[in-house]
Amino acid sequence: MLNFKKITAEKLANAIAELSPDAALTAEEIAGLLEYPPDAAMGDIAFPCFRLSKAMRKAPPMIAAALAEKLTGGEFESVTTAGAYINFKVSKGYLTKNVLLAIEEKGEKYGSTNEGEGKTVVLDYCSPNLMKPFHIGHLGTTVIGHSLKLLHEFAGYKCVGINYLGDWGTQFGKQIAAYKKWGDRETIEKGGVDELVKLYVRYNNECEDNDALKDEARAEFRKLEEGDEENLALWKWFVDVSFEECRKTCDLLGVTFDSFKGESFYTDKMPAQVEKLRALGLLRIDEGASIVDLSDYNMPPCLILKKDGTTLYPTRDIAAAVYRKNTYDFEKAIYVTSSAQSLHFAQWFKVVELMGYDWSDKLVHVPYGTVSIGGAKLATRTGNVVLLKDLFRQSIEKVTEIMNEKNPNLENKEETAEAVGVGAIVFNYLFNSRIKDINFTLESALSFEGNTGPYAQYTYARCCSIVAKAKEAGMGASADTVTHEDEAALLKTLAKFPERVQQAIAEYEPSDITRYIIDVCTAFNRFYCNCPIMNAEDEAVRAMRVRLTSATKTVLGTALHLICMKTPEKI
Ligand code: ARG
Repeated sequence: MLNFKKITAEKLANAIAELSPDAALTAEEIAGLLEYPPDAAMGDIAFPCFRLSKAMRKAPPMIAAALAEKLTGGEFESVTTAGAYINFKVSKGYLTKNVLLAIEEKGEKYGSTNEGEGKTVVLDYCSPNLMKPFHIGHLGTTVIGHSLKLLHEFAGYKCVGINYLGDWGTQFGKQIAAYKKWGDRETIEKGGVDELVKLYVRYNNECEDNDALKDEARAEFRKLEEGDEENLALWKWFVDVSFEECRKTCDLLGVTFDSFKGESFYTDKMPAQVEKLRALGLLRIDEGASIVDLSDYNMPPCLILKKDGTTLYPTRDIAAAVYRKNTYDFEKAIYVTSSAQSLHFAQWFKVVELMGYDWSDKLVHVPYGTVSIGGAKLATRTGNVVLLKDLFRQSIEKVTEIMNEKNPNLENKEETAEAVGVGAIVFNYLFNSRIKDINFTLESALSFEGNTGPYAQYTYARCCSIVAKAKEAGMGASADTVTHEDEAALLKTLAKFPERVQQAIAEYEPSDITRYIIDVCTAFNRFYCNCPIMNAEDEAVRAMRVRLTSATKTVLGTALHLICMKTPEKI
């Protein structure tokens, strides 16, 4: 469709210049004014004539009528007017030539660009605080982040996915102290992160009115920072045990990373940045703490050092950003976190700017809505969490049940149930625009009715089976052009893919792709219902419809992969 937009803009530009040279607009200007009509029956693209009215000294509807008359024919099946609007409908021959052939030619690359060639994008996502269970609150950053990575790769960028593990901080002091008091190695080796969490929660509860315990935890953390061997070994072990669960879930999701440098990696990289801040005169002492005053920018101060000289979350992020710039020379550094952290990012981005780093405008925070359960905030401490491993297990179980009923003889049943069960959760999550807060309910996550992952994967599998059957049967020569309205509508939907990809990247919004997938499924299933494929009487029509099905399979497959979904060929 992109081409159709371009051609429409060019033709309009010529027609306007001919009618009235004073009113001439460039094709680019016109392209910016083109709209999609609210109802596809009106046309595929619309041009509002208001802008021309002053220069042409005519009422917009009259201009619309004059231009429509000039433009009829060629690539347009029809050119009609509705008030000040001209509605263009693309011809079926043009669609077939430009869209179907492009998909057939480019295959899985259809929709990709080389816009990012030679440029690197660094993405920070997943990044859990270790020693906490991997829960529903981590799903957003993990799948949005990975999808943004795939989208940027699709646009030709070199991408570096970083899992910035929260593997340092006073919580490790508590964990070490708790383990030394009550823990034993075997239980943790068996029970993994859940056992660590139990110890941690117990320590926290007992800490509440016991200052001695608080001091003990602090002392253990200090020993850790000073390199005490026993504590370092415990820390390393706790990190490994609790990361295991995150790793397993990421494997299940097919989410990968290029670096796992976590917070601990930056401990020795912070002093240089703190020094720089001090030398620039940006640090101010406030009740013993070192801060950067941001009142000129309507933000609370950014905390750099605590009273006792220890560093903070922003200090680490600043040091990490400098390190990443030096290491990867990024064009963009994207951070995907809950919107609860928006202020944190705004603050330290500003500090980086004040430090004179000329790449501060390349830092991008991509926030997503917070998740609550039963209307209450997620909290490991009180147990108000849904663990991702439990959620996926339940979803996979439910899919397995349905499969046992509907398709008991399916090969690779286990693998397929996993792809569909996990995909259902991911699709459900990525369906809403990312900034929307979510009140999580198991019922809605596991409801497979309507616009869901299983529906999309099922449509993909349907395409696969038709293409396979056609291959077996052998196909004759195909018609040159589609003729049915539903065939044309499907092609128009497929034509929009490159634009949707661009939009998803520009807005950092994987849900643009999720919604697009539903558009494709709807268009395909309507076509499938109304146009017999293998039973089409005319051989050339049959072959054309198989080509359409194959093109749908290509685009649907690519789109599903871009939102971290697997694509089983049989369900
Ligand atoms: N570990 C943090 C958390 O769980 C998220 C880290 C996000 N990335 C960053 N560079 N700050 O809240």
